Amino acid sequence: MHLPGDKSISHRAALIAALAKGKSQISNFSSALDCASTLSCLAQLGVQVERSGNDVLIAGTNDLKRPSAALDCGNSGSTMRILAGILARQDFDCQLGGDASLNSRPMGRIIEPLELMGARFEANEGKPPLIVHGTKEIKPINYKMPVASAQVKSAILFAGLGAEGRTQVRESILSRDHTERLFNGFGVQVTTDDALTVTLEGPAQLSGGDITVPGDVSSAAYFVAAAFLLPGSELTIRGVGLNPTRAKFLSVLSSWGAIISTGELIEERNEPIGNITVRGGFSSLDPAVERSIEKATIPSVIDELPLLAVVGTQVPGGITIRDAAELRHKESDRLKATAINLRKMGAEVEEHADGLTVFGPTQLKGASIDSFGDHRIAMSFTVAALIADGPTRITGAECVNISFPEFFQLLDSLTIS
Ligand code: S3P
Repeated sequence: MHLPGDKSISHRAALIAALAKGKSQISNFSSALDCASTLSCLAQLGVQVERSGNDVLIAGTNDLKRPSAALDCGNSGSTMRILAGILARQDFDCQLGGDASLNSRPMGRIIEPLELMGARFEANEGKPPLIVHGTKEIKPINYKMPVASAQVKSAILFAGLGAEGRTQVRESILSRDHTERLFNGFGVQVTTDDALTVTLEGPAQLSGGDITVPGDVSSAAYFVAAAFLLPGSELTIRGVGLNPTRAKFLSVLSSWGAIISTGELIEERNEPIGNITVRGGFSSLDPAVERSIEKATIPSVIDELPLLAVVGTQVPGGITIRDAAELRHKESDRLKATAINLRKMGAEVEEHADGLTVFGPTQLKGASIDSFGDHRIAMSFTVAALIADGPTRITGAECVNISFPEFFQLLDSLTIS
């Protein structure tokens, strides 16, 4: 099976194409509503965007236009935060807003570095809607990030493209590095000297070109986990993005007894792509071993943590997730949402300020699940429903459209009832 294009890479490919010299053709562009939000914001900024299914053609410009209305980022944190980095270096003011979930998420993390670079923001106690007062006099920055966040890192790098001199971002734990890889792939050199310091010399001009977006590894995660938990399964997913800052859930699942292999890798604009094969059932596992996810791995599995908690209910000895307080600031409070829903299904869970302990193995039972309007919660608990005794009803499940509109249809086509 193949999957729609990666959401994080699609956002960045569109934003890069919009700023690049010349035209860019993006194939296998994500079908996620979040990425449609990025395209419609770009169109409002005067960028020529033509979409035909999963193909997107964008004509780059050095002359973004002041939009006539506020930009609507929908549910998409990546759209709002990364776009803010681009707007910080324009000579116009612009308002950014979103849905109720996005409007309750913290933006101080981008406001602080972008103000240090010379832009000015108005916000609602650090939350959207944001008014960005951009400036062409944007200054470079040397910034140590207080939270591991690829969105913040990317906002700074996109702003740094317009700054005269060296912009440097230092992370204490590596977050997803798509922006760095794609800047290098589209003609702007970005160096990552010790893997935690990213450097960009500005001003710098991106060059347009074509890209085929790899399949979304975060979408693949649900099928990989489902195949692992259903003995007798065998599943191969082709053409998936296997960037090491995204694909760590595969090694986490392997360490919990999953039988997973990845084939040879190819590269597209510096992004590694390969096939994932998974066989159902656990390999031998010592139930006496305590299983947890290392702190340094957390940013690389950040979107998979609710799913990993679901899988944890089946792991002999259970699993512990710590150092993941960031999950409280996602589309929902994902620690709370995961704990509430797992308990409804009969699992024993301890909720910590920064994580969860899930005891296992436990036979889950069907239940009435609240998606909290959060796509990753809806899909994680669909996987839980597959292994539960009795029917499960998930309310608000249409939120899967935010990242993966084809999810239920694809699942239907794979499962034998
Ligand atoms: C993303 C980064 C992550 C992730 C989000 C997408 C990105 O957020 O949770 O789904 O595209 O850069 P943070 O950077 O806030 O951790």
